[in-house]
Amino acid sequence: MCGIVGYVGKRSASEVIIKGLHRLEYRGYDSAGIATLNDELNVVKVKGKVGVLGELVRKKKVKGNPGIGHTRWATHGEPNDINAHPHTGAFRRFALVHNGIIENYDVLRQDLEKKGHKFEGDTDTEVLAHLIEEIHELSDIDFFQAVQQALLQVEGTYGIAIIHKYHPDQIIAARKGAPLLIGIGDNEHFVASDASPIIEYTQKVVYLEDEEMAVITSSGYEVSTLKNVPLTKEVHELAMNLEQIEKGGFPHFMLKEISEQSDTIADCMRGRLIVGENRIQLGGLDGVLDRLINARRVIIAACGTSWHAGLVGEYLFEYLAHIPVEVEYASEFRYHEQLIDERDVLIVISQSGETADTLAALRKAKKRGAMVLGICNVVGSTIARETDAGVFTHAGPEIGVASTKAFTAQVTVLTMMALLMGRENGMISDDRMQELTRELNEIPKKVKDILKDTSHIQEIASLFTYAPNFLYLGRSYNFPVALEGALKLKEISYIHAEGYPAAEMKHGPIALIDEHMPVVVIAATDHTNDKMISNVEEVKARKGRIIAISSNGQSKVARLAEFNINIPEVHDCLTPLVAVIPLQLLSYFIAVNRKCNVDQPRNLAKSVTVE
Ligand code: M6R
Repeated sequence: MCGIVGYVGKRSASEVIIKGLHRLEYRGYDSAGIATLNDELNVVKVKGKVGVLGELVRKKKVKGNPGIGHTRWATHGEPNDINAHPHTGAFRRFALVHNGIIENYDVLRQDLEKKGHKFEGDTDTEVLAHLIEEIHELSDIDFFQAVQQALLQVEGTYGIAIIHKYHPDQIIAARKGAPLLIGIGDNEHFVASDASPIIEYTQKVVYLEDEEMAVITSSGYEVSTLKNVPLTKEVHELAMNLEQIEKGGFPHFMLKEISEQSDTIADCMRGRLIVGENRIQLGGLDGVLDRLINARRVIIAACGTSWHAGLVGEYLFEYLAHIPVEVEYASEFRYHEQLIDERDVLIVISQSGETADTLAALRKAKKRGAMVLGICNVVGSTIARETDAGVFTHAGPEIGVASTKAFTAQVTVLTMMALLMGRENGMISDDRMQELTRELNEIPKKVKDILKDTSHIQEIASLFTYAPNFLYLGRSYNFPVALEGALKLKEISYIHAEGYPAAEMKHGPIALIDEHMPVVVIAATDHTNDKMISNVEEVKARKGRIIAISSNGQSKVARLAEFNINIPEVHDCLTPLVAVIPLQLLSYFIAVNRKCNVDQPRNLAKSVTVE
């Protein structure tokens, strides 16, 4: 999604902003731009990469301070130079960057056109710029008030930053539905859509909430509501460092993040999985566990990979704690005529903590009185702040658009929650708990073993680099892993892939199988094993090219398969944590072979903050 960074202080604004925009690239974008102030308002914007923008800025010797910059992920209007931000209005006295969508832009635009405004492009943001201009030019209110009044007229979502020619040393910022934070430095301040572009300058931030505005200068900042009520904001310390958002010698963030998983799973369990005492301790759930266990309904809502983790959670909660769970796409849940109330619990899962549909699901459930728990990676994110309680995944910043370490951390949290609930409601005996906690504790080491030698996976990737389709099959806990494997391949290599519960294959997808179809089979050792063997036989009989992911004990599946990727033996309920690793690597190597942009796949955004 779009990214914003702004700077006011003693450094070169254009340098801080171009560097910041590079750090925001991971969010996904198709054009970029910058505006700075000296005597003039300097605006440079281009379709394409931040690197190209940086070159232009250097060539044109863009100077000045303050400055604002933007990476645009097109929603309204195609990606081109004109639609790129910043937008200036007709008189070029101010420049505006915007994340989000102004939903009533069409009505506003028609009205402004009647009043004589001429538009260059097709974006909703340009309409907002003209609206501010119209209000400011036709009244005697100051610029800040004009922005305020314009925002009161718009419907939709925004995170904005504005600089004005006649208000040097000042950035105006406002937020509704699109995250924005202020970075506090020593006689310098920043504004950004997330912490990545400012982390090397400061760890101190203030999060703007919806319908809040700020005036940010080099020496300070003032925050008020849209209706002018002054606010005192809490200053937060960021829980990330620069190293975490750099590649650290890896060719891609995705590979770095896949490789980190032994550590991130261990970090996620640290201080929470107490093997010696045979127990789980999740401080974030203190005081809410009873309500969770005794809820009339437990619903998990999430999107994409987080939704897949939620599906694994359903199996875990039901098998280990005997607590029935419904898993919903957040984007569907929010529009259902849900019968949700204070007797229910909604668990939202989100790496970024900013996904618009997940946030809307959370708000809907809260409004109806349900307790809402969060499983989030980004501390300080909107979802983390708005949930009643929850558990952080502590995976560190995930920069690659394809989610990897966030998934395994989410599944780790869900496993710990299931164990905690199962213990609390008497469904897990002492012995079983001991066995499961010991095994869970071993997972980081087993993940490390898989990552030690990936050459076999690379070879398989080379053989199937140009396959046009893939099928992924799994059962029980590994059905969501099949979905996740297919999603990873689709999003970074653009190969069509589908995940299925293995037995469903007979109800349609089997028609696709011939000697050209790679079929990835995730086998486990549980009660579904025999049935899985039959499914593999069915694929083989139709000459499908079977790539098995199976543990050392799975000789039958391994024998039937053309290729076998060994994973260490683990308890069935923990297989998703190990089985997903080869699938991440397979899609990574295939995407690299196909020369795809692994970390920033086309059309995708890291954090989907629009609906
Ligand atoms: O930040 P979130 O976990 O809420 O994001 C949800 C999805 O947008 C995300 O998992 C997406 O599907 C990833 N690109 C998958 O790799």
